[in-house]
Amino acid sequence: MARHLLTGEELSSDEVAGIVTRALELKAAPLSSNALEGKSVALMFEKPSTRTRVSFEVGVAELGGHPVVLGADELQISRGESLADTGRVLSGHVAAVGLRTSGDERLAELASESSIPVFNMLTAGHHPCQALADLVTLKETFGTLEGLRLAYVGDGNNVARSLAILGALAGVEVAIASPAGYTLEPVAGAILVEDPVEAVAGANAIYADVWVSMGDEDTAAARRAALAPYKLDDALLDQAAEGAIALHCLPAHPGEEISAEVLYGSRQQIWNQAENRRHAQKAMLELICAG
Ligand code: CP
Ligand code: NVA
Repeated sequence: MARHLLTGEELSSDEVAGIVTRALELKAAPLSSNALEGKSVALMFEKPSTRTRVSFEVGVAELGGHPVVLGADELQISRGESLADTGRVLSGHVAAVGLRTSGDERLAELASESSIPVFNMLTAGHHPCQALADLVTLKETFGTLEGLRLAYVGDGNNVARSLAILGALAGVEVAIASPAGYTLEPVAGAILVEDPVEAVAGANAIYADVWVSMGDEDTAAARRAALAPYKLDDALLDQAAEGAIALHCLPAHPGEEISAEVLYGSRQQIWNQAENRRHAQKAMLELICAG
């Protein structure tokens, strides 16, 4: 059976810890692994991407592999070929395939007929590669993941869900503050509250994501109104534990879900977090492509 990474729930706690440790080794020596030598990895995008696209393409190359970046509109998928058939065909050419798409069912369909590992590069429901990189940033900043508390403030979306799942596997306490109508379902033992100040109490990191995710544009005005009290600014950071950092998966809207002062200030690890995508994903690819 191919080792897929669709939600992160496929990983054991030991594997998550291993990916985090390995990512920091690869960060220190980016060209030290040839795990993908002679192999190709397909990267399929049905939605825009900056970080995921670049970090995977460069990361595969650094591992000695060949990245094949595919936009949905250039594939026969755009003319009705199924993702299942696409998975069958890709399995004969590449060692693994990543997909960024809207519905999780599209990712599941690709995986259903792929004999190679399929990994999630963002769906409406999950963003596990982001959460893996965020654990790397936490470990790099604090030296350990044990005993840390991460507070996410805002929309109970794909990023929140992946932080809950992978945070639990890593032993990080995850508290999520969202307004009514935008709450995450109970997942992986995450603490779900409405009050952002309650979530950030004792937190070592406060995490923000956009208020209007890709695909949510129709409800943008209502979202901005409901989520306005959930802005990550210096006042909220002051309510967290001493030495707390600000995180954001990016792209950011300075002045909306995060203040410019925090986004570009001394208490953020956001730009480092964006770099850590590559290191975390290389460690993940080493694991799922092994053997
Ligand atoms: N954080 C993230 O996934 O960024 P992109 O949408 O630019 O890939
Ligand atoms: N929640 C955001 C994350 C972007 C990286 C979205 O899905 O658009």
